[in-house]
Amino acid sequence: MSDAASIDVTSLPARYDDVRAHTERLAAPLSPEDQTVQSMPDTSPTKWHRAHVTWFFETFVLADNEPRFAPYQDTYWFLFNSYYEAVGPRWSRPMRGVISRPGAHDVGLYRGNVDDRMRDLMATLDEGTLTKLAPTIELGFHHEQQHQELLLMDIKHVLSLNPLDPSYAGNPSSGDMSGTLEWRDFDGGLVEIGHETSLDGGFCFDNELPRHQQWLEPYRLADRLVTNGEWLAFMADGGYRRPELWLSDGWARVQSEEWAAPAYWSDRDGVWFEHTLTGTRPVDPELPACHVSHYEADAYATWAGKRLPTEAEWEHAARLQEQAPANLADTESWHPRAAGEPVDGLRQLFGDCWEWTSSAYLPFPGFHPTAGALGEYNGKFMSGQMVLRGGCALTPPGHARASYRNFFPPGARWPLTGVRLADGGAPREPRR
Ligand SMILES: [Fe+2]
Repeated sequence: MSDAASIDVTSLPARYDDVRAHTERLAAPLSPEDQTVQSMPDTSPTKWHRAHVTWFFETFVLADNEPRFAPYQDTYWFLFNSYYEAVGPRWSRPMRGVISRPGAHDVGLYRGNVDDRMRDLMATLDEGTLTKLAPTIELGFHHEQQHQELLLMDIKHVLSLNPLDPSYAGNPSSGDMSGTLEWRDFDGGLVEIGHETSLDGGFCFDNELPRHQQWLEPYRLADRLVTNGEWLAFMADGGYRRPELWLSDGWARVQSEEWAAPAYWSDRDGVWFEHTLTGTRPVDPELPACHVSHYEADAYATWAGKRLPTEAEWEHAARLQEQAPANLADTESWHPRAAGEPVDGLRQLFGDCWEWTSSAYLPFPGFHPTAGALGEYNGKFMSGQMVLRGGCALTPPGHARASYRNFFPPGARWPLTGVRLADGGAPREPRR
């Protein structure tokens, strides 16, 4: 969260309207039926995302500050609380898909009601109170933007299970090349990582703090993401059939879930096809390999005689170069693009695919969760998950910064993830 004093409170109403309208734009191509499906426990219905981000403002802003506050509906507090134990009981996450009522239209009414009340509140609070409340309102913007990304990842999974191969929106881009993979060297040494306002902007989540020192041995990073063509070579060399390439937990998942290719790939009469938000089409060897788990990313790196970067290596490298235009959600490509020809620095650093690191999602030294119920936002998930860096083609632009720490369990494949290789330290033999 930002310091209260650093937020321009006069900008809050317009920022609120922008964020809220954008969620509705993302949901617009989806029918009420599309918005109701929950395709697996990890994903949530579009309609649930729209309601939950509204519940967030109602719970954390309106409840303590609105005169004569009453919830829009008592039951909504139960239905649309995600995981906040301090706020009270909640409906079972894997059962969000059975909430046929309220429908998508009713969720729209809920959103409109809270929008009116939020606008009233921001217009009537005295400046001192609004300044104190501003960091929580701003957190609500960033929370809603995180759900905008999840909404897209989740509906991609929903649509992938429909035998009619529906697309979400847009048209596929094609014809671009990824170019040669090159390596960039970094000296390492004593470096600082973590959020720094002067470098990263005013807002950060609590998990990006405190900024602290880390020691890095000299290392190299691949200058672009692994491509589908390279992933096909891994598959052709028995990548999914050779236990020596895999972490033990990963090999167990290969067997139990019969993984033989990235998620969303299907073999149709000997040709690999890929489901995307813009339609299902033959796998393009020039595009980044995506929707692979941490286990697959690690197995690929082992096969290639490389490894995954640590999050400190990634962040240090990201801080040494200018941020280039990136394929984030504002491009509305809804899918990673080819890397293009090599440049001076690293390609695809922000955008395209979230990049798995070898770092467990743990607190930085001296980490303190935000006070109160909002302390449940990040800290309590620091177990059994891996850090990803960089952003993807579904990430709102304000969420692409060097210190941003995304995290998912190592077996997750529905997030838009990819692989950047690292090298350095002890020599490794390729297993090709
Ligand atoms: Fe949430």
